[in-house]
Amino acid sequence: MTEPLPPTRRNRASLAYKLRYAAQNPDKIRTYAARLARDLKFRVSSRGHVAYYRAVMKSDTAKNPEAAVGSRSHERWLKLGQMQFDYLRGHGLKPDDRMLEIGCGNLRAGWRFIDYLDSGNYYGIDISPDILLAAQNTLVRQDLRDKLPHLTLVNDLKLQFLPSEHFSVVHAHSVFSHSPLDVIDECLANVGRVMAPGGFFDFTFDRTEGSEHHVLREDFYYRTETLTALAEKHGFTARFMDDWEELPHGQSKIRVTRPG
Ligand SMILES: C[S@@+](CC[C@H](N)C(=O)[O-])C[C@H]1O[C@@H](n2cnc3c(N)ncnc32)[C@H](O)[C@@H]1O
Repeated sequence: MTEPLPPTRRNRASLAYKLRYAAQNPDKIRTYAARLARDLKFRVSSRGHVAYYRAVMKSDTAKNPEAAVGSRSHERWLKLGQMQFDYLRGHGLKPDDRMLEIGCGNLRAGWRFIDYLDSGNYYGIDISPDILLAAQNTLVRQDLRDKLPHLTLVNDLKLQFLPSEHFSVVHAHSVFSHSPLDVIDECLANVGRVMAPGGFFDFTFDRTEGSEHHVLREDFYYRTETLTALAEKHGFTARFMDDWEELPHGQSKIRVTRPG
């Protein structure tokens, strides 16, 4: 019998993987078939990836906003947010930082950042109006109105409406795992302008050590060196965050900074 591949080498888009997965998880076949049908529908009706993913978020948020950002239960939603917050606090976040969260979702971690940061210092952006409305509900539930965070809908990641050299911390959790390379390229080409000198940008991604691939247009798997090379092309220094790997989270994390 052949050894099962480690998760980082599996190609989830391959037919062999899909057939094996279906055989091992027959209860998930219906869900996958529904996702496939939705993928076809949204691909036909959406122009470009942002429109496609916005439609995915609309459909998922209507069912359950916490599941739409990837948490199966409220307990997991709380844990995942806590994990992001604890890690960032342990890796340089201070109350007077000015933070930009790209793909803030319904503030799974965002509400903790808002609570911790000085008033007005949190800026969340997202492509999904539906999840931003859910983010407002999180703000009310956590009683954080007085912190006056910004929540803004975007169509792209050019960040043209934001001031130069403003944000000391930029964060994107589980966003590039849902993004084709041209979206990541656009982000890295523009985020440097809005970062304050000495600032950093942390992002997670779904890592593969095999061939890069995507499942439907929803989940994208990259090699570390693809993303570090892209960051370097845009003038950043990129560091793979080894200690993030120790946490119970399937994705990997890179921190980029501007040299000098
Ligand atoms: C899996 S959720 C994670 C949300 C949040 N970061 C968290 O950890 O809870 C991904 C979020 O990124 C947003 N998103 C996806 N692509 C984006 C893009 N190109 N620009 C901004 N937001 C994006 C989605 O709408 C969604 O809210």
